[in-house]
Amino acid sequence: MRRSLFRIKENTKIAPSVFRMVLEGDTGDITRPGQFVNIKLDGFYLRRPISVCDLSGDELTIIYKVVGEGTNLMSQMEEGKELDVLTGLGNGYDTSLSGERPLLLGGGVGVPPLYLLAKKLINEGKQVTAVLGFNTKDEIFYENEFKELGAETIVTTADGSRGIKGFVTDTMKDLDYSYFYTCGPEPMLKAVYRESKTSGQLSFEKRMGCGFGACMGCSCKTITGYKRICKEGPVLMKEEILWED
Ligand SMILES: Cc1cc2nc3c(=O)[nH]c(=O)nc-3n(C[C@H](O)[C@H](O)[C@H](O)COP(=O)(O)OP(=O)(O)OC[C@H]3O[C@@H](n4cnc5c(N)ncnc54)[C@H](O)[C@@H]3O)c2cc1C
Ligand code: FES
Repeated sequence: MRRSLFRIKENTKIAPSVFRMVLEGDTGDITRPGQFVNIKLDGFYLRRPISVCDLSGDELTIIYKVVGEGTNLMSQMEEGKELDVLTGLGNGYDTSLSGERPLLLGGGVGVPPLYLLAKKLINEGKQVTAVLGFNTKDEIFYENEFKELGAETIVTTADGSRGIKGFVTDTMKDLDYSYFYTCGPEPMLKAVYRESKTSGQLSFEKRMGCGFGACMGCSCKTITGYKRICKEGPVLMKEEILWED
C-alpha cells in the first residue's frame, strides 16, 4: 500500500451520474486488475474506495457513480486538483487460472475493474468474452473500449432498449467459457455464481472503514474462515464463498 498525491488530469461525465476520472501520480503499488484505491475527500472522515479501471504509466483511470455526498463532491472536482490517494489495495484478480476462454461479467459500476482485467488477459493471449449489464441503453459505457481491446463484447439491458434483454446471467448458458470473473451488485454476483458451469472469481463490495486491513469493519464469513474484503478480498474464489442466506 502506498499513500501519495495524485493530480486530476480529466474528470468527465460518460453516462448519467457516471464519471471517468484520470489521475496522474505514483502507480507503482498497483499490481493486479481488480485492486482498488481509497480516496481522501475534504470534509469526510472515511475515504471512498473505487476500483482501478485502467492503468498506463503514471496514469490511473477510475469510473465512479454519484450515489451520495462524497461521489457528488468528486464529480465537481476540476483538472489540476490534487487528491490524497491510497493505492495497491486489495488482492485483485488472478489471471493465471483463466484458461483460454475467460468470461467476464460486469454490472453497472462493476464493469470498470473488468476493463483492466480484459486488457491483461488479452495481452496474455486469452480469448476474452465480456458481458456488460446495464438497466437501460442510456446507462451503457465502455462498450466500444472493450471492443477496441479485442474482447467479444455483449451488452445486456434489463429493459431491452439495447443488446440482449435481461441480465448478464441470461447469456451464460449459450456461451462456451473456461473460467469466469465478475463484479457488480451482490444479487448479480449470486446469480452468476448459481448459473456458472466453471470455477471463477467474484469481486465483492462492502462499506469500508480503514480500507487496508486494520479495523476488521469489512470482514465476512467464508468457507475458509473470516476474510477482510479490503485485504484478502475484494476478489474471492467461487469455492470459498458462503452466502449468508
Ligand atoms: C472495493 C470497492 C470498489 C469499489 N469500486 C467502485 C467503482 O469502481 N465505481 C463506483 O462507482 N463505486 C465503487 N465502489 C462503491 C463506492 O465506494 C461508493 O459508492 C462510494 O464510497 C459512495 O460514497 P458517497 O459518499 O458518494 O456515498 P455515501 O453517502 O457514503 O453512500 C450513498 C449510498 O451508497 C452506499 N455505499 C456507500 N459506500 C458503499 C460501498 N463501499 N459499497 C456499497 N455501497 C456503498 C450507501 O449504503 C448508500 O446507500 C466500490 C466499493 C468498494 C468497497
Ligand atoms: S475496512 Fe478496515 S479491515 Fe477492511
